[in-house]
Amino acid sequence: MDRLAPFRQQLDALAQDDRLRRLNLRQGIDFSSNDYIGLASHPALADAVRDALRSGTPVGATGSRLLRGHDDVQAAFEAKAARFFGAEAALGFGGGYVANFAVLTTLPQRGDLLLMDDLSHASTHEGARAGRATQQMFRHNDVGHAEDQIRAWRQSGGTGAVWIAVESLYSMDGDFAPLADLAGLADREGFLLIDEAHATGVYGPDGRGLSHALEGRENVLTLHTLGKALGGSGALICAARPLIDFLINRCRPFIFATAPSPLMAAAGSAALDLLRSEPSRRDRLAGYVRDFRAELARRLPQVATSNSQIMPLIVGQNGPTMDLAARLQDRGFDVRGIRPPTVPQGSSRLRVSLNLNATAADVVRLAETLEEFWPDM
Ligand SMILES: Cc1ncc(COP(=O)(O)O)c(C=O)c1O
Repeated sequence: MDRLAPFRQQLDALAQDDRLRRLNLRQGIDFSSNDYIGLASHPALADAVRDALRSGTPVGATGSRLLRGHDDVQAAFEAKAARFFGAEAALGFGGGYVANFAVLTTLPQRGDLLLMDDLSHASTHEGARAGRATQQMFRHNDVGHAEDQIRAWRQSGGTGAVWIAVESLYSMDGDFAPLADLAGLADREGFLLIDEAHATGVYGPDGRGLSHALEGRENVLTLHTLGKALGGSGALICAARPLIDFLINRCRPFIFATAPSPLMAAAGSAALDLLRSEPSRRDRLAGYVRDFRAELARRLPQVATSNSQIMPLIVGQNGPTMDLAARLQDRGFDVRGIRPPTVPQGSSRLRVSLNLNATAADVVRLAETLEEFWPDM
């Protein structure tokens, strides 16, 4: 019996469809990481970790938060983050994926409706699938369609709360959610969960994110990841105190898991300080976005761009997308192709991530090189 045959067959099928993934070590100029403002290698983060170690902070949390894993560094970081993000309370998780999963499997109750944007991240889908609420999707950024879905659900007897889950800046399309309209809908119907994964540290006053105008509302929850612009790893859920207390009491991924390393809390705390003390990083990144947009508009006007640091350049088919990425990589640009199921069939793309690990001159050179290669597409 060949036990491994089913796995080989599926891998072969992926290869046939140009969708076989491999792990590639990082090399070349960074146009693919989420280290948007270059904090991952900032000396202040390394110093914060060293200082924490020197003052006796253990490397590992040693247990669940509800047992011995509750650490003063983590507690101080959560209190600081809650103040920073204008929330009543904040709770740390090992990453954004688990934080989305944790919230969506814990807070929406049986009888509630969980409504997700079509382009929501995989972790939102997984949380919805494993959770208790009825789940539905609405067309990307279409608040009218979200309202229609809620109306239809109410007409069919739905009486619970509605939980609307969106990203403030979409990870693969680089476009922004209509947060004010969504918050209005949530005020009438229930709650709004805003995944700020790609906006935290980049947008809003002091990099507080795109949800800054909604801070402190009892029906708005925000997810801020520490592994993207903040340069470390982990995530925070910021919300009203009773919701955080409910997570502490009922959230299985929180209760039955070793707490995140307190060293990441030390790094996260230093990152929040840098957001305040080095605002020029956000300005420089905004300059890259302007420059890249202008270069592409001039050189490749047929290629649509976004208004954010995430620039999806849609190629369409998987093979040509990966070929183009490989050619750019040969020229020293670390640009990655993104294929289904991460993005819908037929919309494979280069996801150009502008970040401060590249120079302004690199940004222009990338646009030049794209102009050279694109006609072959
Ligand atoms: C929108 C969004 N939410 C959540 C996550 C997961 O966050 P983390 O990488 O911290 O697990 C990602 C990561 O790619 C993301 O893009």
